[in-house]
Amino acid sequence: MKLSVIGCGYVGLVTGACLAEIGHHVVCADNDQARIKMLHAGKMPIYEEHLDGIVQRNVKAGRLTFTSDVAEAVRGGDAVFICVGTPPLETGDADLSAIDNVARLIATESRTPKLVVEKSTVPVQTGQQLKRALAVYGRSGGVTFEVASNPEFLREGTAVLDFLYPDRIVVGVDSGQAEQQMREIYKPILVRSFTCPLPDGARPKTPPPQFIVTTINSAELIKHASNSFLAMKISYANMVADLCEKMNANVDEVTRAMGLDPRIGGAFLRAGLGFGGFCFPKDVQAFIRLAERAGVDFRLLKEVENVNKARIDGFLEKTRRALWVLKEKKIGMLGIAFKPYTDDVRFAPAMELIRRLLAEGAKIQAYDPEAMERARATYPELRYCADPHDTASGADALLIVTEWPQFKSLDWKRMHAAMARPLVLDGRNLLEPARMRELGFEYHSIGRPE
Ligand SMILES: NC(=O)c1ccc[n+]([C@@H]2O[C@H](COP(=O)([O-])OP(=O)(O)OC[C@H]3O[C@@H](n4cnc5c(N)ncnc54)[C@H](O)[C@@H]3O)[C@@H](O)[C@H]2O)c1
Repeated sequence: MKLSVIGCGYVGLVTGACLAEIGHHVVCADNDQARIKMLHAGKMPIYEEHLDGIVQRNVKAGRLTFTSDVAEAVRGGDAVFICVGTPPLETGDADLSAIDNVARLIATESRTPKLVVEKSTVPVQTGQQLKRALAVYGRSGGVTFEVASNPEFLREGTAVLDFLYPDRIVVGVDSGQAEQQMREIYKPILVRSFTCPLPDGARPKTPPPQFIVTTINSAELIKHASNSFLAMKISYANMVADLCEKMNANVDEVTRAMGLDPRIGGAFLRAGLGFGGFCFPKDVQAFIRLAERAGVDFRLLKEVENVNKARIDGFLEKTRRALWVLKEKKIGMLGIAFKPYTDDVRFAPAMELIRRLLAEGAKIQAYDPEAMERARATYPELRYCADPHDTASGADALLIVTEWPQFKSLDWKRMHAAMARPLVLDGRNLLEPARMRELGFEYHSIGRPE
C-alpha cells in the first residue's frame, strides 16, 4: 500500500519515517517549502533521538520521499495520513483550518479511492465533519473515501520508540474495509516483524501492542481524555506539593509512595513547574471547550488548567522572595525546552517565565542542550550560553527549568564558584537539597522541606 503523510512536523516526520522503516513506501508532504528544502538537504527540522538515521536510511532505500507538492502526494497515496497542526484559537477551541485545507485538497485532487487517516489531535466528531467535507468538496470527482481516526500517543523525546513499540494502536472506523486497511498498515508493528532500528539497550521488553478498534467518535475522544487525564495527574501532584511546603513534608516521598500503587501509577505524578508543550495545554483547553459546547461543564479540567498556570506565579514569587528585586539581576536559566530530549519550546513553562522575568527587568543568560535556537526566534535579547558553567557565570540566581539529566551531574562546586550569589531555585526537583546546602548553596525547590 502506498502511503502519503501530510504535514512534516513532529508527528508527520516520525509517522512517515517509521512507516517507511517497517516497509511501506511513504511520501511526506508539507506546504512549508523551507522545511522540505531542509529535509532534501538531509537536515532534520526537529531534534528527536534516532530519527535522523531512520530518515537517511529510508530515503537512501527509496522508501521515503519529501515534497512540497501536497497535491501530488495526495494523488499518489492509497492511504493519506493527516498530521497537520491543530493549534489553539483565542477561545481555547482547536483551530481546524489546516485539516479543512487538507480535506479540500484530498477531495479535489484524488483520482483513486483513498483511506483518509486523521492522526492530528482533533475534537470528537471531527471525523464526521471530515467525511462531510470530503463529500462536499469532492462531489464532482466520483471518488470514494473512507475515514479513520488514528490518534497518536507518541511522546517527544522518545517518539520513535513510542511509534514502533506502542502499548496500543487505536483505530476508529465505520467500515470493515477501513479496519482491514489499518491492520495491514500496522501489521509489522502488531506482530513485531520489522527489524528494530534502535540500539539493543533502547529496545523495550513490552508485549506487542493491542489493536483497539472503536467508532471514530470514541477514538477521537480517547486521545483528548488521555492527555487531559495525564495533565490532571501533574496538577494533582503540584497541589500536593503546595500542601507539603506548608506542612514541612516532602512531595517526592509522597508521590513516590503513591505511585507504587498500581491503581495510581508513578508516571506524570511529579511536582514542578507544570505541564507545557504542544499537546497538554491546548488539548486540555480544547477538551474543556468541546465539553462546554456539548453542555457538559468539565469543571475538574478547568481547575487543572488554573493550577498549572499558577505554577509560574508561584515560582516567580519564590524567585522574588529570594532575590528581593528582579530588576537588573543576572539570572541564569538551565533548560528552556518544555521537557528533556526535545528542542520544542511551544508553550514551555520556560518561555512564559522568560517573558515575565524580562518584563520585570531581569537579565537572562540561558542554556539548553537542544532548544536555544528555537528560543532565540522569540527572545533574541537573551544571552545564550556555551554551557551550563557559562550560565552560572556572575549569576545572582540559577533557575532549573527543564530536567535535562546532565544538569544533575554538573560540577556544582565549580558552578558555586562561578556565581555572584550561590542561589539555586530548582523548578524540577532535580537536585538533592542536602547536598546543595552542603556545597554552600541557598537552595529552594518545589514541595520539599527548606
Ligand atoms: N508533538 C507531539 O508530541 C504530538 C503528539 C501526539 C499528537 N500530536 C498532534 O499531532 C498534530 C501535529 O502536531 P505536530 O507537533 O507535528 O505539529 P507541527 O506544528 O510540528 O507540524 C505541523 C506541520 O503541518 C504543516 N502543515 C500545516 N498546514 C498544512 C497544509 N495545509 N498542507 C501541508 N502541510 C501543512 C506545517 O507546515 C507543519 O510542518 C497536532 O494535532 C498535535 O496535537 C502532537
